[in-house]
Amino acid sequence: MRGQMGVSTVCEMPVGREMRGLVAVPLIALRSVRRVEADLYVYCMNSQRPVLYQRAGTRLTGDQADALEAAGNRCLYVCVGEFNRVGKQLLASLSTLLENDDITPAERYGVLQTAVSAEVEHAVKLVHCDRFVKLSSDVARHIRSLVESRQLLPHDLFRIARHDYHTFAHVTNVASYAVMLALQTGLADGDDLERLAVAAMLHDLGKRYVPRHVLLKPGPLNPSERALIETHTQRGYESLLHRNDVDFDQLMVVYQHHERIDGRGYPVGVTGEEIHPWAQLIAVVDVFDAMTGTRTYRRAASVAQARDGLLKRGGTHLNQELVECWTSMLTTLS
Ligand SMILES: [Fe+2]
Repeated sequence: MRGQMGVSTVCEMPVGREMRGLVAVPLIALRSVRRVEADLYVYCMNSQRPVLYQRAGTRLTGDQADALEAAGNRCLYVCVGEFNRVGKQLLASLSTLLENDDITPAERYGVLQTAVSAEVEHAVKLVHCDRFVKLSSDVARHIRSLVESRQLLPHDLFRIARHDYHTFAHVTNVASYAVMLALQTGLADGDDLERLAVAAMLHDLGKRYVPRHVLLKPGPLNPSERALIETHTQRGYESLLHRNDVDFDQLMVVYQHHERIDGRGYPVGVTGEEIHPWAQLIAVVDVFDAMTGTRTYRRAASVAQARDGLLKRGGTHLNQELVECWTSMLTTLS
């Protein structure tokens, strides 16, 4: 329990990622929570297994957090089943955390992803998407301010982003990458950047209608499974169409992000300029994050492999100029 905090511990797992049924939560975020509503675990170097550090309902004091950090810990761990409760607590204090200048932009992004991932998973499963649209709007504001200030560079973002594709970290990665790419292309209007980030958060909303065993299938999909996955653009579009807080540009991202420049995409098979520019932009970073994320059936591609993969798709699948713009930014990563 608490007496363990002085022991030398290891904490190499990226924040928010599951390991042996536990999820890492940054200490810096836990400092802001009055009473953590989950048992907290710490990893001990000696045993290589989690040890109960503190029971649910107790405050993590500043002195405890200092001691844990001094022992080399960046995170404590909570059980997957209790993560949703902690995620909610983190979301409640997110604005304060993200405005805290004592926390580096990279750490802020880690906190953002941790807080958001549990809530996104929960919200996406709801029949109504009000909660998810509201969450997307809040997250987009934070992403815009982190990325637009250029305090968070592609290098930092890639290093700290969670790359397990089928968690909901994918949408926050895509939103952040999209804002970076948009800035690089000269889109400077803050409201537009925020609207774009919201669109990126919403782009795969229609996947909630696709059975999980199909989404998570290890290995290639058969034609009927592929057809089922391909309904997600239309279904996402339909579920947002009548909302007055989602605009035309954002709807086009949801509807067209799998269209291809050569007309071989879906749902319609439109070509080139018939595809909304934002959908073309999201397509580039969506493919990048899909390539660099781990799947149940393959390892993640390296940045260099992903860059080559994108360049091969430029002009056929993806917009050539946007691919060149994004891959030129990636040179700092390899
Ligand atoms: Fe998609």
